[in-house]
Amino acid sequence: MKFVVANHKMNMNQETIRKYEEALQEQDSTHVKLIICPSMLYLSYFQNESYALGSQNVAPIEQGSLTGEIAAYQLAEKNVKYCLVGHSERRIRLKEDADLIKEKIKILLRYNITPILCIGETKEQHDLHRTALVLEKELISCLKDIPSEKMDEIIIAYEPIWAIGTGKLPSNQEIANSIEVIKEVMEKKYFVQSKVLYGGSINPDNIETLEQIKNLDGYLIGGASLKSDTLKTILRKIQ
Ligand code: 13P
Repeated sequence: MKFVVANHKMNMNQETIRKYEEALQEQDSTHVKLIICPSMLYLSYFQNESYALGSQNVAPIEQGSLTGEIAAYQLAEKNVKYCLVGHSERRIRLKEDADLIKEKIKILLRYNITPILCIGETKEQHDLHRTALVLEKELISCLKDIPSEKMDEIIIAYEPIWAIGTGKLPSNQEIANSIEVIKEVMEKKYFVQSKVLYGGSINPDNIETLEQIKNLDGYLIGGASLKSDTLKTILRKIQ
């Protein structure tokens, strides 16, 4: 069963969310594992059994004083089962580094929330054929010190930075190669068979092409997940 993770980022408001949520309830998504990651403020609007709830962020400390952050125990209380970590928007704009990402992963695992670790190369790294190196380096730095018995609980999302919100996608062959690199690192270094998702400019027109990639375990969708009809069309095209 493929994962489909909807990352709403900072979009939607009370009214649009109510309609969206209603539309999702009518959706038969039993053939996929649908995970909705709304804007934090609206986590409690999404408490339906037809999908799982994901967070877009978690505090890098377990509890205590950290103004503006949300702790893993609070997310767990709201029925959050998954959490994005290492998204390039946070790495770039908020300067989140591998040490911080690693702390978040550790805490999430303590609260039985599955981390979805996002990694991916820049356009420049892609053009210099450094993708495999970048992916390996990001995996190793973000997963340092994670207890080995927990390693198989982590999902990896391959999101080339240059493909996010740009309408540009790598070729199927390039995506398959990157997924293979990630799976190989996870297997050889940590002895686990990890689930790996692809994210970046997915839409109803390209999902069928992406579906031809054999080693893919699912998708992380931004813009195209914001309209319930568009998301439903994508879901229908996933096997
Ligand atoms: P888009 O699907 O809008 O390119 O965003 C991808 C993404 O960043 C999901 O986390």
